[in-house]
Amino acid sequence: MDKIPLGVIEEIKERNDIVELAGRYTTLKRRGSTYTGLCPFHSEKTPSFTVYPSNGSFYCFGCGVGGDMISFVMRAENLTYPEALSALAERAGVNLSAYSRDGDEERYVSRKRIFEMNRDAARFYRDRLFDEREGAAAREYLTSRGLSQEVIKRFGLGYAPGGSRLFSHLRSLGYKSEEMTAGFLCREYGEGGNKTIRDLFFNRVMFPIINTSGNVIAFGGRVMNNEGSPKYLNSSDTPAFKKSSNLYALNFAKDSSADSLILCEGYMDVIALHASGISNAVATLGTALTQEQARIIAKYTKRVIINYDSDEAGQRAASRAIGLLEDVGLDVRVLKLKGAKDPDEYIKKFGVDSFRDALDESSTKFSYVASKIMSEYDMESESDRISAAKRMNEYIAGVSSSVEREIYIHQASELTGISEESIKSDISLIIKKKAASKKKSDREKLILDSSGYGDRINRDKLKTLRAASCEEALLGIMLAFPEYIRSAAEGADGAPTRKDFRTEFGGRVFEKLVEVYKENGFFDLSALTPDFSLDEMSRLTKLMQGRDGLDNSESVFADMTAALRRENERVSAKNMDAIDAIMRLRRKNTGDDPKHTEG
Ligand code: CTP
Ligand code: MN
Repeated sequence: MDKIPLGVIEEIKERNDIVELAGRYTTLKRRGSTYTGLCPFHSEKTPSFTVYPSNGSFYCFGCGVGGDMISFVMRAENLTYPEALSALAERAGVNLSAYSRDGDEERYVSRKRIFEMNRDAARFYRDRLFDEREGAAAREYLTSRGLSQEVIKRFGLGYAPGGSRLFSHLRSLGYKSEEMTAGFLCREYGEGGNKTIRDLFFNRVMFPIINTSGNVIAFGGRVMNNEGSPKYLNSSDTPAFKKSSNLYALNFAKDSSADSLILCEGYMDVIALHASGISNAVATLGTALTQEQARIIAKYTKRVIINYDSDEAGQRAASRAIGLLEDVGLDVRVLKLKGAKDPDEYIKKFGVDSFRDALDESSTKFSYVASKIMSEYDMESESDRISAAKRMNEYIAGVSSSVEREIYIHQASELTGISEESIKSDISLIIKKKAASKKKSDREKLILDSSGYGDRINRDKLKTLRAASCEEALLGIMLAFPEYIRSAAEGADGAPTRKDFRTEFGGRVFEKLVEVYKENGFFDLSALTPDFSLDEMSRLTKLMQGRDGLDNSESVFADMTAALRRENERVSAKNMDAIDAIMRLRRKNTGDDPKHTEG
């Protein structure tokens, strides 16, 4: 097998489900955003095997085995890397034969062909839109929706005249009819001898859907002035497109500097937001949010703001989306706009500044949690209010940001009529209890770790224990939050560089992380599986999951880098001292300057 692009591996992983996969070897129970069960790799009585759907990894706190989906299959089925990957690819219906020299090239080419054909189709639609006569009505429609020429071009919008215009054009470029129907651009009509092939999109404005690698993977087409139905016609799944695992405008939003993604319902909403300078908006492709899309979102951000239509259907869809997004560990907020049916209309009516204000006030998950709790109690009764407050406190105690806690304490007090002081003291008690039990289990883990002999994975660890710990903390943060890999790859202030890593293992990992990022523009744990042993993968997963519940802010990352540098300096100063001492000793013994004794 030749090198498989990370994007293809991603697709294979997205089409498989690690919870379902691991669930074939052990019974998993959901616990918040993770799943736990008895470890399939060692015998135990209480479950310490954990599956993390958000990043598709697993880790056993009992035996320290962990990794990605591929390493799971390697271990569980005793397979080599290529064997495990092929097995997963097969389950996912992904054809890897194109990547092996002896495979049939046919199918892989057709995927590439569809990308090419889509690009040609997008050009054709765009040229029709900008054609003086042909595109006049469509241009007028888009202008009436407030889109500037610049925005139209940025999003590659077009116009599909219909008939067999696209068909003839694509045929003149050498595409086969089968390719056009497989790519959902044209369709066969009629039976037997009367078969004709015509364009699928007819008199619609066209929205190309572009993936994060810049390929045109599909189209959405909208009727103009609400004449005709359906309002939107979207490409069906093709060999090059899966609706449920792509998001509109993610190709732009992924490069936004915002620390969140805004999830909208409609193409027009996303375009309106981007046009107003809010470039972190994305939308699903005409279907309800899927688990795959939630996982994709989690790969790019830690926080998502759901900004669906304000009607009942939109809000119902929003509350369904909350669950899916939380399951993958995202911080979820909901922005329900007042006075407009959707973000597009809101911005037109009230302006982007007003939208930004609303965004800042977007309610946190706490409001949802609180209203859910309150619905279970009789808030008129004092004892019920106390019980409800207790449950809210439990939730607030689990929030890691103290600023957020502060806000929720205030809200909880308002909602329950219990004073902020008593809520606060209740919460700090819960936090203390939690910390104590975490300390205890951490200590137990540490004892487990240091038992036996040294460190087989990071062999240099004992030589420079403190520096190696800093290295591991940095690598853990980078693995858990790949935006830090980007900082390192871009040589940002406060990010470590290759020469900061002095252990062989740490250096090798750091190098690979940066390399993968530079090559792909994103990172996924699975990029390491071919290059690291299963035990090394376990260690990396441990470092990654070890950041759970700790402060992983930028300042901690920078502080850790600084600590590593200080430690390295201290160690080299110590080495210099040692060298000095040796020199002095030699001078004393030879009675000569060391330089002259060489050779
Ligand atoms: N949609 C669809 N098929 C339809 C209607 C809607 O696939 N018949 C999808 C489209 O992706 C659309 C999204 O659902 O973007 C949201 O629908 P809607 O709110 O009706 O569309 P908007 O994007 O707001 O478009 P517009 O403002 O032009 O009505
Ligand atoms: Mn709309």
